[in-house]
Amino acid sequence: MAGSVSNAYIAGMGMYVPPKVMTNEDFARIVDTSDEWITQMTGIKERRHVEADVATSDLATAASKMAMEKAGVTPDEIDMIIVATATPDMFFPSTACLVQTNIGAANAFAYDIVAGCSGFIYGLVIAEQFIKAGTVETILLIGAETLSKVSDMTDRNTCVLFGDGAGAAILRPCEAPKGIIDHVIGSDGSLGSLLSLPAGGSRLPASHETVDKNLHMIYMDGRKVYVNAVKKMGDSVVQVLEQQNLTGDDMDILFPHQANLRIIESVAKRAKMPGEKAYVNIQKYGNTSAASIPLAMCEAIDDGSLKEGMLVGLVAFGAGFTWASALMRW
Ligand code: ACO
Repeated sequence: MAGSVSNAYIAGMGMYVPPKVMTNEDFARIVDTSDEWITQMTGIKERRHVEADVATSDLATAASKMAMEKAGVTPDEIDMIIVATATPDMFFPSTACLVQTNIGAANAFAYDIVAGCSGFIYGLVIAEQFIKAGTVETILLIGAETLSKVSDMTDRNTCVLFGDGAGAAILRPCEAPKGIIDHVIGSDGSLGSLLSLPAGGSRLPASHETVDKNLHMIYMDGRKVYVNAVKKMGDSVVQVLEQQNLTGDDMDILFPHQANLRIIESVAKRAKMPGEKAYVNIQKYGNTSAASIPLAMCEAIDDGSLKEGMLVGLVAFGAGFTWASALMRW
């Protein structure tokens, strides 16, 4: 494909969540917590957990097959695969290469990106650049996580928050006004230690000591993450609207990263939009990091909330810290 095209759009989406449901009551039997605390503080009622022998690429593969079917795209038509994940199957090969083999996308090049909970929007921005440059035509973008594998099941501060799942999108060129309109993207590495998975990399390679100290599990300063998430998600959704001379009123539906219902409500308020326009499914899946926005979009397509012609907003914040927002005409 040569020359530039006007826009990139999502031609089809797919999702997969593992069947095992972990309710708040299940957690109350493991750690000192309650359904009341988790519901009031986060909005989460249940989340999904994979079985021990299931990895991120398994979820990503299932979501990808559904996205290809919905978009009417065959594996050999896919030029590029991006997997956004903080929980890859292993350091290398990339989860994207594992998915490539699983779906038989022999003509694609594939790689992972690590941008925490902002990973899906980061991937969307990357995909848009390739499509607009005219160098690539069909992209499979996946947000997939198995956060249960890195959650310390003895730490009530974190274990109740996270869930497993995958969402996938096929991106293709289109004519404006349809497609991705604008984005805001940013990061601040100076605050990275507030939300991290400390060991297992080159800084603290796996050892008996790192395992004994639980350093292969998520560490989070929840309060500080919360404050930064509210600010950065609010700022970036307002900024992307202002860049297009739009307001929260103009947006038909917003897909905020599903980390905490109170964060979502604050972001909607900051964007000066009615709370009902912010799509919420956190009660079913908890925080699935890079998978949360495509899971929400998929469910919104299914239940009729996301309709053709709508002005759609996306916004996320996550480990890094990273943040991003995007606007698209569905
Ligand atoms: N059940 C019962 N009590 C709990 C639980 C629990 N599951 N977790 C924490 N508590 C207790 C704490 O121990 C503390 O008790 P103490 O006062 O006796 O010490 C009390 O609740 C308050 O704890 P805080 O952490 O100060 O509570 P906070 O109001 O900050 O709420 C929460 C905690 C819900 C985790 C919040 O900080 C949050 O949602 N942060 C964002 C986290 C997040 O989503 N991170 C993921 C990645 S980034 C992103 O996705 C945006």
